[in-house]
Amino acid sequence: MSQTDIDQLQADLLAAIAGAPGLEGLEQCRVHALGKQGVVTGLLKTLGGMSPDERQLQGPRIQALRTAVTEAIGDRKAMMERAGLDARLATETLDMSLPAGGMSGGSVHPVSQVMDELAEIFADLGFAVATGPEIEDDWHNFTALNIPDAHPARAMHDTFYFEAQAKTAGDGQNPSSDSAGLAGGAGRAKRMLLRTHTSPVQIRTMVTTPPPIRIIAPGRTYRSDSDATHTPMFHQVEGLVIDKGITLGHLKWTLETFVKAFFERDDIVLRQRPSYFPFTEPSVEIDVGYTLIKGKRVIGGTAPDGWMEILGSGMVHPKVIAACGLDPEVWQGFAFGCGIDRLAMLKYGIDDLRAFFDGDLRWLRHYGFAALDIPTLSGGIGA
Ligand code: DAH
Repeated sequence: MSQTDIDQLQADLLAAIAGAPGLEGLEQCRVHALGKQGVVTGLLKTLGGMSPDERQLQGPRIQALRTAVTEAIGDRKAMMERAGLDARLATETLDMSLPAGGMSGGSVHPVSQVMDELAEIFADLGFAVATGPEIEDDWHNFTALNIPDAHPARAMHDTFYFEAQAKTAGDGQNPSSDSAGLAGGAGRAKRMLLRTHTSPVQIRTMVTTPPPIRIIAPGRTYRSDSDATHTPMFHQVEGLVIDKGITLGHLKWTLETFVKAFFERDDIVLRQRPSYFPFTEPSVEIDVGYTLIKGKRVIGGTAPDGWMEILGSGMVHPKVIAACGLDPEVWQGFAFGCGIDRLAMLKYGIDDLRAFFDGDLRWLRHYGFAALDIPTLSGGIGA
């Protein structure tokens, strides 16, 4: 075939492609040119019967024809599809300014509400809000908190572990992994896990922030535990103060002030019980007094009918301070940790923990808070 014939064929094919009325017409053009019995395919087949010289001449011509036709079909197809989408978009409209029919609007979940209340109360005492990752490493979640590898407290945490990674113990933001003896020492895979408590935020804060430190760290925590009073994901708030000359007295006053502001009553009595946590020494469990009213436990009353445990606390263990690169001879502090879901249940009279995470609209409407009801100390923390 002469170049002139090929040029003519190409012009005809491209004109047909350009004039194809729709996707179906275009598909016909494609079959006509490039299908099994197509004209271009037919030309390609003739190459096999040619002498080498002729093939060298015709080969590139026919290939160029095929490329030009293939590209033209592709371009035209894309154009048609775009035009189709544009046409559809022009007819489909969504008025974002319309009020959602029949919906009463969202509400603030009691857990979020309590987190906002905590931030408000502690901000007034000079505490900042800190956060940390929910996917933690062994060092921040355990080792730096004075819970070494074989420590029984690890078993109590029902930890969700990730599969071991090929990272070594010495990397990451882990200033003293070697001296702290991470899980078998350098070279061993660095185990990642879902944090079992908010206490690793203590470590992250001490490692990155020069004291004095005053933070609370609310957030999600995870343990492989599920029954009427435990969910695999739950919420905690951590508190940490690091400064010079900090004593148990500061801890007691701070927690008393917090609990009174949170439950919005002054007749609150706290009881301190000696306890044990690896990361505090001494460790103190805090109970709050309740009064029985019609068989229900209501927080408060100066002559309580009973005690309810609400949080764990203590003076930060010197080993924890040292693991973060601070001198425990200079810096002391206290810490506390508390379940937020439990606080919300006690304050708002919610019986079943599991309902917190069901996403049942009726429950949310009943226990939720209006979005613009931001808790303030002056306006009332919970209302
Ligand atoms: N991390 C502890 C837990 O999850 C709670 C806790 C107790 C936190 C005492 C503290 C503390 O900071 O001082 O059970």
